[in-house]
Amino acid sequence: MKNTVITFSQAKEKNEKLSMLTAYDYSTAKLIDEAGINSILVGDSLGMVCLGYEDTLSVTMEDMIHHTAAVSRGCKNALIVSDMPFMSYQTSVYDAVKNAGRLIKEGHAHAVKLEGGKEFAPHIEAIVKASIPVVAHLGLTPQSVNAFGGFKVQGKSLDAARNLIDDAVKIQEAGAFAVVLECVPSKLAALITKKLSIPTIGIGAGAGCDGQVLVYQDMLSMYSGLTPKFVKKYADVGEIMKNAFKAYGEDVSNGVFPDKTNEFSIDDEIIEKLY
Ligand code: KIV
Repeated sequence: MKNTVITFSQAKEKNEKLSMLTAYDYSTAKLIDEAGINSILVGDSLGMVCLGYEDTLSVTMEDMIHHTAAVSRGCKNALIVSDMPFMSYQTSVYDAVKNAGRLIKEGHAHAVKLEGGKEFAPHIEAIVKASIPVVAHLGLTPQSVNAFGGFKVQGKSLDAARNLIDDAVKIQEAGAFAVVLECVPSKLAALITKKLSIPTIGIGAGAGCDGQVLVYQDMLSMYSGLTPKFVKKYADVGEIMKNAFKAYGEDVSNGVFPDKTNEFSIDDEIIEKLY
């Protein structure tokens, strides 16, 4: 069944959980789509897990469009959400609408996601007015890593928790149809989930959220040896891939691959005439 923004609002009403995973290329998106995951996020985590940057700040609009378009070619049913990269919307409401439009027109996303609270309510409102659905992103917003002084759990003090609740209410009023809560204490995330009529999608925000999102390289142990506390490791694909690459290298060195079963034939008569 095709997932749309309606799927998201109905899931909240019916108390059904929503699943979201990141993807950045055609083949992975196709597998995730075929697995029946509700939504694919083309996250700007692209910068770290695919492009090898230390953070997400260097990701460009061109990067996001290129990878979102690849994902969209692999998807039939998942709702595709594309991240607005650093400085593609912070600069002005005009830039926000223009760049959100590019992710839809050129990347073929169904919705965009942007990081930040009430300070970006006018941006969200303008994008929504342009008929582009918006997912907000609160808590640990990685584009603010320098302002936060590192990747840290957010909303732990009374003031910070109150501020986060206020942000969540304001972005909902601005028209966001869902909100990602990243690295937020689970009891606070559950409270925000209760207060909102739009679904919350948690990552490191506990089971009280309306849905969950993970970076697929994290759940498959493909990115680094370390598995963050909030990630469940579903398979050690990194190790499986490394072992397969090693076996291939050894087969090539030892002349074991390719063998007869991997070859194409030609008439001996033709070959003889070529000598
Ligand atoms: O970029 C990303 O992958 C994200 C998720 C961590 C929510 O924003």
